[in-house]
Amino acid sequence: MRCLLAGNWKMNGLRAALAEIRTLERGLAENGVAAEILVCPPATLISAVAKEAGDSPIVVGGQDCHAEASGAFTGDISAEMLKDAGASHVIVGHSERRQYHGETDAAVAAKVKAAQRAGLSAILCVGETETDRGAGRALAVVAAQLGGSIPETTRAHDLIVAYEPVWAIGTGRTPTVAQIAEVHASIRGVLVDRFGQEGKAIRILYGGSVKPANAAEILAVRDVGGALIGAASLKAADFLAIALAAPLQGRS
Ligand code: 13P
Repeated sequence: MRCLLAGNWKMNGLRAALAEIRTLERGLAENGVAAEILVCPPATLISAVAKEAGDSPIVVGGQDCHAEASGAFTGDISAEMLKDAGASHVIVGHSERRQYHGETDAAVAAKVKAAQRAGLSAILCVGETETDRGAGRALAVVAAQLGGSIPETTRAHDLIVAYEPVWAIGTGRTPTVAQIAEVHASIRGVLVDRFGQEGKAIRILYGGSVKPANAAEILAVRDVGGALIGAASLKAADFLAIALAAPLQGRS
């Protein structure tokens, strides 16, 4: 399974940021990086990034989608529209969406369904708060989120799970490798219970303060199939350094 390194630009990036894509493309080519590289820019840049990426190894994703394909939902964007703009993936259920937009597990499940209906891979985000972890509830919270956010009809092959502990996002703090291994093993267990053999092939990304300095040790953890990277994905040099830290099966 190739390592997937996904950059979540969040609400950052004007057209000038396309220069970072060009720099990243050059760096990937020069260093023979074979990891899959996904950039999820704001929706306004999806088609421009897709055009810029051309047939380079960079693919493009959205950061959220509406559950419906079209309709009277002012300001929203459907999975079909993301696909039409050149996206192959979409992040759903990010903790910032859950927190600032009140997205429930049921709403997130509807988005996973929408993504797959449109032919996109859904990157489903789960993760505990610091209070949950302090109370010893991290595994239970993550399992409950998975239970509630994976719809009945989900196909395993276009589902990706991202474990993003809320307290590690944008804070510079990361769990220990033992904590990451524990949660990823637990997620793997839930996926295998749910999908059988196919559950073993679902990629589980880690996200939360991934940077060049910690990428190698995080990406080497068992059941970590890649990373979902926020701030460090905004600079091509940092994103490239993380790609170079990916385990060997991620390099050509
Ligand atoms: P940071 O890498 O900036 O902590 O953000 C992680 C994240 O939320 C990616 O989706």
